[in-house]
This record gives sequence, structure tokens and C-alpha cells, in this order.
Amino acid sequence: MSKQVVPNSLASAPALIERVLPVQKLSAESYKEQMAVHGKTLTALGSYWKGRKPLILNKACILGCLLPATDDLVKDLEVFELLMGMDDDSMRVRLKLRASEPLPAKPYSGLVSDAKRPEELGDKVHAHIWERVNAHLGTSVHSIPQLVEQLGIMRFGHRPRVADTFSGSGQIPFEAARLGCDAYASDLNPIACMLTWGAFNIVGGSKAQRDQLARDQKSLVAAVEQEIDRLGIEKDGKGWRAKVFLYCVEVTCPNSGWRVPLLPTRVISTSKSAIVELVPDPKRKRYDIVVRTGVSDAQLEAAGRGTVRTDGRGQDPYMLHTVDGVEHRVKIGTLRGDFVKPDGTSANRLRPWEKTDFAPREDDIFGERIYAIQWMRDDGSSRPDTEFRSVTADDLKREEAVQHYVADHIVEWQAKGWCPDMRIESGAKTDEPIRTRGWTHWHHLFNARQLCLAVLWKSRIGAGSAFPLSQLLNWNSRLCIWSIHDGGGGAVKNTFMNQALNTLFNYGCRGFTYARSVLELELKSYPLSGVALKVDNVPASHFREPADMFITDPPYGDSVHYEEILDFFVAWLRQSPPPEFSAWIWDSRRDLAIAGDGPAFRSEMVAAYRRMSDLMSHNGMQIIMFTHQSGSLWADMANIVWASGLCVTAAWYVVTETDSALRDGSHVKGTILLVLRKRSGHDEITRDDLAWELKAEVEKQIEELTGLNQRVKGARRQENLFADADFQMAGYAAALRVLTKYGGIDGKDMATEALRPRTKGAASFVDELIEFAVGVANEALVPSGIEKSLWDALKPAERFYLKLLELESRGFKTLDNYQNFAKAFRLDDFRPLMADAKANKARLRGAIELGRAEMTDASAIGNTLTRAVLYAVMQLAKDEDGDLVLSQLAINAPSYFDPAVRARLVAIAEYLADKNAELRSDEAKAARILSQLIRSQRL
Ligand SMILES: C[S@@+](CC[C@H](N)C(=O)[O-])C[C@H]1O[C@@H](n2cnc3c(N)ncnc32)[C@H](O)[C@@H]1O
Repeated sequence: MSKQVVPNSLASAPALIERVLPVQKLSAESYKEQMAVHGKTLTALGSYWKGRKPLILNKACILGCLLPATDDLVKDLEVFELLMGMDDDSMRVRLKLRASEPLPAKPYSGLVSDAKRPEELGDKVHAHIWERVNAHLGTSVHSIPQLVEQLGIMRFGHRPRVADTFSGSGQIPFEAARLGCDAYASDLNPIACMLTWGAFNIVGGSKAQRDQLARDQKSLVAAVEQEIDRLGIEKDGKGWRAKVFLYCVEVTCPNSGWRVPLLPTRVISTSKSAIVELVPDPKRKRYDIVVRTGVSDAQLEAAGRGTVRTDGRGQDPYMLHTVDGVEHRVKIGTLRGDFVKPDGTSANRLRPWEKTDFAPREDDIFGERIYAIQWMRDDGSSRPDTEFRSVTADDLKREEAVQHYVADHIVEWQAKGWCPDMRIESGAKTDEPIRTRGWTHWHHLFNARQLCLAVLWKSRIGAGSAFPLSQLLNWNSRLCIWSIHDGGGGAVKNTFMNQALNTLFNYGCRGFTYARSVLELELKSYPLSGVALKVDNVPASHFREPADMFITDPPYGDSVHYEEILDFFVAWLRQSPPPEFSAWIWDSRRDLAIAGDGPAFRSEMVAAYRRMSDLMSHNGMQIIMFTHQSGSLWADMANIVWASGLCVTAAWYVVTETDSALRDGSHVKGTILLVLRKRSGHDEITRDDLAWELKAEVEKQIEELTGLNQRVKGARRQENLFADADFQMAGYAAALRVLTKYGGIDGKDMATEALRPRTKGAASFVDELIEFAVGVANEALVPSGIEKSLWDALKPAERFYLKLLELESRGFKTLDNYQNFAKAFRLDDFRPLMADAKANKARLRGAIELGRAEMTDASAIGNTLTRAVLYAVMQLAKDEDGDLVLSQLAINAPSYFDPAVRARLVAIAEYLADKNAELRSDEAKAARILSQLIRSQRL
């Protein structure tokens, strides 16, 4: 350790993240990481985990808390970017350019998308930075862990301790440990604990540990393969091995009495032009299923329409088949026997499966049938030939053998804890398998072959092999879609393609060789050494470890029902878990899980954050990450912060959405980072004084960021550090910062106020304060070119339109801007004003596109001055006569003859002319003419 490092010399220094964060660049980096999907560092441990927080974002949070904000913010930022691998020299390394080569002339996000992620390059990316870093910080280090240790000593007197009480897949604590912090994690859910454990001990394990794991896995795979071969259930005896077995539901049609396989499509592979044909067998009133390969395009297309259809999205599916020219069409709900009980709840006539069931019984409504097999030549080649075949009598014998084997052993397996015997608890996501199939226990989600394979693995399990087991379960259940379009003839997809438990009419089941590809995990390796690592399985409100930094991503307004869907895995591990996991409670403890956003949610969150605040060192910091979704977000957060004895010091908005979310348009996701400290003392203020302080603080904050934007731009060839939404966020943060630093307002104790139950429909004291503070923050965001007095007179929809037009004129196109500002201006539905609402191509409707729409009171923008001006612009752009346009304007614009109103109309028209100059030049011209017409009009 160098002598220069003075313990606690930074004890009271503000942290960099409390003053500045390069959110635009960080958004590009986070997005890049999210897009890497399977290339992500920890994903191979559990690709089923939804909502991983990007490691690069976690790194920014941790470094941002440790680094000091000095008098020279530009320099601070420069050093931060060096450490993050975001500076030009690092970018050259990431792009594999020579040191002298210039960077391509692209925006930062463009560079990032072509570059490697910094973590993929290890220390290489940082080789050039240490001299500058040490000179600025007074440190003497040559690696990030050394720096983290020294900064920890300067700030807290020791290596920093980072804790995450909602650790989920372990993304936050893993990154903390990789940076060189002691990392303490906990989660209520044992599967989350397992993933965090894996991050620490497998991806973070030593080389020796990893070598041992590889040896163990190899012998396990060999043992299971041997057993499958011994059972003789996967080979055809002619040199072929089954790759995929395709199963479907089969029912008896109540109209015709025929057994009908339920197939949404008869195509089994597009690349092999393979389909199944249903050949009627009138004697037995059933269909033989015959595989045909290499059919014509027309046959392939016709086969796309199977025996299960829907008439459109959201419509009930129905079964359809034709016997002797008569078409029989029966709703699936009717087949199931759906009915409404006298108490109004719905039910059906499916038999609830029993604990030892693993297949439908003869007289069950929904049967199950194997309808095709994909075989692969068993010649050891890496790309063996494959072919689809119809099911033969020999295949059926092998099916029977598996069924008998499982039937003979299931009781014993359940007793030994190798096969689940856990009931499916009813819930928002878990009701579907119960309702649509009669499945009551978790193992019902697996067929005999799938159970057999998973049990063979489970019976030999150790901590390391629990990870392949969970991957196997995810990729081999009755909920795995058979994808007909994938390469290699088709593919068996994963259970958790989304965050639900959707049952299927047909599915793919992997043979052992194909299952092997998910059992042999390709894990990354980042050995963690010299730091404390701990995983606990407790509710956040019972966390036990003191820490300097709590970085958490709580289940706020979360759409993922972790406490329900993870039971899919919990069921398999709860009995006889590996010794490393045996101290955990193998139950998702739904009653303790924080979920939703109701009163229970609030009090549980407060209990959790109060606990963390108690465990946090006096100069410690917290970062809470959450997704910007709910309108009551700021009030919820203010309540939690107040009641937990914390105060806000900053807030940032980072875009973290993934591509599939982007395609979906409406699911653009960003993460808000709320930076918190302990509230010291008990300061009091009145509301009147608060108003002044809020205003001053918000303006100061926005000015600071604007100044920084300009200084950074001037100092380096750089795009904007901050975009408009960031200013808005900064405004909110400043407002929350002022509010939450007071323990008492207007004589009211805020910690008590914050805990007061809310009355539906009535605004609480906190709500009012937040509304006021947010209002102040928004007012500081008047678009350039509009007078404050005009702005104050505008309605929410007009503010939204004019503000977003300004952003469009500056090239912004992302939907989250629109969403954020709609929320900020309290505009419930902004869609009618949009020409395009795609995630990265959003834009407003211009005057011509709006045409005559949105003119009435029913529209948020109807009967406003802005709408009247847009209407007039549309008319002029269509060459209507000027006098006519003015007389129409006089009707559309309330109080037109008031000179003040006409002055506003002129101002709006000129604003539209300016902002549309490049976007819509014809409308810009028309708006300019309109302003002149109004000005020169003689009344
Ligand atoms: C949004 S996730 C965290 C995701 C994590 N940051 C990641 O990147 O994977 C929230 C987590 O909170 C956990 N959780 C819910 N209620 C809890 C409670 N009362 N105490 C502790 N953890 C809880 C859930 O099990 C879930 O893992």
C-alpha cells in the first residue's frame, strides 16, 4: 500500500455520481451489453433469469460512488471515462485500431456497437490510463481493484463493502467483487441465491475450481449417457439416435367422435420442407400421422393451417377438422368444459392430475401423442445427418418403455427428492398450467422422457451441476416450443421465452445428445480473489451485513413474478439440495416477496431500506435502481426515502432496453438511478420557504448540467453529455434532494407522514409536495423559443407537442423521450399526437398529418391555441385562401379577438416555423405566412 493514501481523507467528499454521470454514453454501453444476450458474462449460469442489470451500469454506480467530485468536474469526468473504457484511446483498443488511427466519424453509440465491451478486453483496455488516474486522484495504482481498495481506504478507512439485498442473478455483487470490493448479497428466492453463488464461485471461481468442475461435469454427462443407452429408449438400432421427439395434445371431438391431434401447424420444418399429413382412419375414428419431407411450397403453405386455429389476436382458439366433407369446429374452452361457478369464478372439467401422474390417463379430456421424431446419424460427427420420420411401432415400444420406467420409479424418486412432488401454488402466472391442463404439481410440466433425463442428472447432483440442471429444465419441458424455422431442421426453444408459463398444444422434447448442448455450459471465467464474498437467503428487511454502499435493484413495479415462476426450478432442488445450498429456505416465500405497488409493497420496501440505512456506514451511499413505469414513482420513492431515514443526492436516467423490447415499441425501458445518503439531523422548513429553495436548486442543477455540456463539448470533440430527458431527471433529482433533506415540513414529521396509509383518490401531503416539486422542475424545462408566460398558459398536450417538436428538430427520435415527457407534463395519452411510435423512430404528427383530427374537447389537444394554429398551418400548406384561414382560426382559437391571445398565436406559429424548418419545410413556410397574416390582420 502506498504511503500517500490517507485513510478517510475523502470521508466527506461528495461522490462523482452525486454531481455528474455520462448517461448518454452509459446508455450506449448498457444497451450494447444487453444486446450481447448469450455473450453476457453471467448469462450462461441461468439464461432463464429475466431483468439482469448490465454489469457496465453496476460498474459505473460503484466507481461513481467511490470517486470524488472535485472542483474540476470536467477532469473528474475524464478520469471516470478512462476507468470505464469510454475515452478515445480505450475506444481505439476496443475497436482494434492502431494508436495513431483516428476514430471513425460516428456518434458514440455507433462506435460502441462496433467495439468490444471493455470487460471482454480485461486489463488491456486500461494500460494507458494509470498515470493520469493517479495524478488526478493522488493514488498509486495499476489496476481497478487496487484503485478501488485505495479509494475505499480514503473514503471509508477500509476496502469498500458493497451489499445488494435483492441480488437476483447476482449482477451487482459480482461486478462489485470483480472491481475489488467485498461483496455481500442476499435474496429471498433460493434460485436467485444460487445464481449469485454461481457468479461468485463458478464464473468468479479459481482455475483449480473450474478444472475440477469441468472434470465432474464430464463424468456426469458420461454417466447419464450410459444410463440412457442402457435403457434403450433413444436409438433405432440402425445407427440413428433420436434428436427430437415431437408431441401434441390429442382430444376426442365431441361432434364427430374422432380423436384429433391438436396441431397449430402441420409443418415440422421449413428448411427441410417437412410436414405431417393426417390420414383418416374411419374405422378407428382417428388419424394416422405421416411425415412427408421435401414437399412443394404449395403443400408447405397449406400445411401451415393445422387443426388448431384462431380468427385473430386475442380470439379464442378452436379445433377444426373435417370428416366426410363435414367441418367440425369446437372451441378449446368447450373441449375443456369451461363453465362459470355460482360464485362467479370460472372452472372447467379437466381432471386435476395427481402427485404420481406424469402423463394423461386414457379417459382424460386432453391426451398426449407423439407425432414425429427427428433422428440423427449416430456417427460421432459434429454435424450429423438428420431426418424426420413418422412414428413406428418400434418407436411406440420405446415410448412404452420410458413410461413404464418412470411409472415404476416415480414414487421412489419423489421420496428421495430427485423428482419434484411440489404443488403448483395458484398465482397470476401459475394459474395457467393449472387451468389449461389440470396440472397441479411442478413435475407435470415434464413428460416421461424429460423427467427421466432430469432425474438421472438430479440424482447425481453437486453445487456446480445444479446450473446445468436448471438450464436443462428450462430447455426441455412440456412448455418448450418446437420452432419450425430454425436452422438444422428446427429447434426446441426454452420454457422462459417470456416471463410466463404458457402451455402448448405441441412441443419439442430433446433426446440426450441434443440436451447435452444445454448441459455443457460455456461459462466465462473471471477469478475473484482477495475479497470477501457472501450470499445469504433472507428477506431484505432481515439483512445482517454492514456495508459502505448498498446498490440495489428492488422489485419495484416489476412485471416479472419471480416468486411464482422460479418455483419451476425450486421444485426440483428443494428436497436434497447440494450441501452448499442446503442452509437456504427452498421455498419462494411468496408472502414475504415484495411485489406490486400497493400499501404492502410500500411498508415492505420501507422495512428493507430502513434496515439498510441502519447497516450503512455514516458516510455510506446507496443507489436504488428502478424502471420508470408507474406515474406515482416519485411519490413512492420520496415516501420510502423519508421513512427510511435517507435523503436523495442525485438521480440519473440510463436507457437499458433490449432489442426485443425495442421491436415491441411500447416497452422501451430505462433505469433510474437514485443516489442516497443518510439524512443527518432533523431540519425543519415551511412550505413557503421550500418553494423558493426548490426553485433555486432546480435551476442551479439545470444550469450546472448545461454548463458542463458546453464545457465538455468545448474541451473535447464530443457530442452532448446530456439530453433533454436528463435535464428533466436532474430537475426531479434536485427537487427530491431539497425535499428529502428535511425531516419536518410545515411542522409535520416527514418520516411519519411517509408511512401514513394512502386514501384512494385523495392526494397525501407527500403527493402534494411531490407534485409541486415536479411542477417546479418541469417549469425549468421551457423549450428555447417560447416565453415563460406563454408556457405557463399552455395545456399539458400543447406543452408536450411543442417540447417534443423542439427535441425532434434536434434529431431526437427515441420513444422513451416521449414517454418521459408525457409523464412529466401529465398527459395521459400521447399516442393520438404521434405519427410513429416505434422505439427508435418516434415522431409527432405534423399539421398536415393531424389534418382535421384531434379538434374536439374529447382530445387532449382539442380546442387549444396550438391545435388552432396547427389547423391553420395545414390549411395554408394546402393553399387555402388566407382570409378563409383567418376566419376559421377565429372560430377555432378561444378568445381570438383578445390581442394577448393573438400575440400567443403568433408566437406559436413562429415557433412552429422555426422548429419545422428542416423537418417539414412546407409547414414551416405556412406557419411563417400565418404569423404574418395574423399580425397584419385588420380587425
Ligand atoms: C429486480 S430483481 C433483481 C435483479 C438483479 N439486480 C439482477 O440484475 O439480476 C429483484 C429481486 O428481489 C427479490 N425479492 C423480492 N422480494 C424480496 C424481499 N422481501 N427480500 C429480498 N429479496 C426480495 C426477488 O427474488 C428478485 O430476485
